[in-house]
Amino acid sequence: MATKSKLVYVCTQCGKENTKWYGQCPGCGEWNTLVEEFQSKESFSKKQSTNAVHIVSNVKQLSGIESETMQRFGTGMKELDRVLGGGIVRGSIVLLGGDPGIGKSTIFLQICEYLGNNMKILYVSGEESAHQIKMRAKRLGVNTENLYILAETDILGISEYVKSENYDMVIVDSIQTMNLTELTSSPGSVSQIRECTSVLMQLGKSLDIPIFVIGHVNKDGAIAGPKVLEHIVDTVLYFEGERHLSYRILRAVKNRFGSTNEIGVFEMANDGLREVENPSLMLISGRPQSSSGTCIACINEGSRIILSEVQGLVTPTGFGTPRRMATGFDYNRLSMIIAVLEKRCGYFFGNMDAYVNVIGGIKLNEPAADLTVAVTLISSLKDLVVPDDVIAFGEVGLAGEIRAVNNCDMRVTEAARLGFRKCIIPYNNLKSIPNEIKKDIEIVGVKTIRQAFESLV
Ligand SMILES: Nc1ncnc2c1ncn2[C@@H]1O[C@H](COP(=O)(O)OP(=O)(O)OP(=O)(O)O)[C@@H](O)[C@H]1O
Ligand SMILES: [Mg+2]
Ligand SMILES: [Zn+2]
Repeated sequence: MATKSKLVYVCTQCGKENTKWYGQCPGCGEWNTLVEEFQSKESFSKKQSTNAVHIVSNVKQLSGIESETMQRFGTGMKELDRVLGGGIVRGSIVLLGGDPGIGKSTIFLQICEYLGNNMKILYVSGEESAHQIKMRAKRLGVNTENLYILAETDILGISEYVKSENYDMVIVDSIQTMNLTELTSSPGSVSQIRECTSVLMQLGKSLDIPIFVIGHVNKDGAIAGPKVLEHIVDTVLYFEGERHLSYRILRAVKNRFGSTNEIGVFEMANDGLREVENPSLMLISGRPQSSSGTCIACINEGSRIILSEVQGLVTPTGFGTPRRMATGFDYNRLSMIIAVLEKRCGYFFGNMDAYVNVIGGIKLNEPAADLTVAVTLISSLKDLVVPDDVIAFGEVGLAGEIRAVNNCDMRVTEAARLGFRKCIIPYNNLKSIPNEIKKDIEIVGVKTIRQAFESLV
């Protein structure tokens, strides 16, 4: 094996190796993504020979391959199963990213209690000692006999060990601490992460067992390491949440075996993560009564509808340029809505600060929340109260028009189920609403923002 190492510049986005430093990556065109790295002359992956005879015997005709129904098994956590697309798939590799302390180790340790009933699980930790994991397991009430802890970072050693011991599942906490001794670069570097992940990938596919991997995120919120890491694995999950709130949202950003629209909602408690089956109830509870500047939004996340409170506050600017601030809502979209309200509806925000806050750490990235935001802003500006049992949603266009949203009937049904009495929806969605829902809730179809606000108060 070549031991001479050379200095290369590796792109953290696309993984391209360069012999000199560039401001812009020649591979993917991103700026400031090259990092310095020492690398042994021969890359590990290049050393593996390709044996033609071996390949020929491996080629199969697609129609001749026996199709077995994809084997999935539940984790005992419905919210996690939902995000995974209906449970864990054999031989798949799942990457979970998230901010420090968000609960990545907690969720994977917690599912071991249920999975341990009929699986032998290995939890490899390069971050914590076996003793520390024991303490956490005790707090979470995990005491299955089938869980084995290994504090180790040598990835090839771990891989060999797993092969010899017939494990049914492996959890790796975290990929940034794993180390392939053949590579001279330090753990956590681009090449280490990439090669360690491929080793795990090969391990999972060859034994047909699921492998769960935890990844750290960098300051931009992406999983630290090259984007190629996300290409290698089958499923990429992100754990999100506000540090000071107990709610956690699990989101799939890539899934080879399921939809990526689904979210799972959890609450962090002393004894671990609890599933929140009805997040809307939690998000709209504790709402101020008969107060201006608040309205309920209705968003569609995968197969579920979530209602959450949006607050707006409009106050005179003390000095200088007016401030606009948005938490849980896109800042540029807020600016656009304010511009539409000024130009098309005759509400003036020129000397007003405007704040929008979505309660509960939820992020409203869906255009259906536009109308809700517009309504809270007008309500605060005019100091007019939107009645508590009313909900409004729709996409706002630049002409001040309200545009149709998808799954409108599902949204209205959910609003009626949660006790709302009146629903302001885009006019073009009216015909999609079945008559039987209209018995439970008053439906008003609107074409413009002004019309929406007038039918509200
Ligand atoms: N009694 C407790 N002791 C410690 N942590 C607790 C306790 N109760 C709740 N927690 C929560 O558990 C979180 C730690 O979770 P966990 O260690 O799984 O996070 P992580 O995502 O693995 O973090 P890291 O990236 O540092 O490994 C804490 O931030 C805290 O919110
Ligand atoms: Mg951890
Ligand atoms: Zn690049």
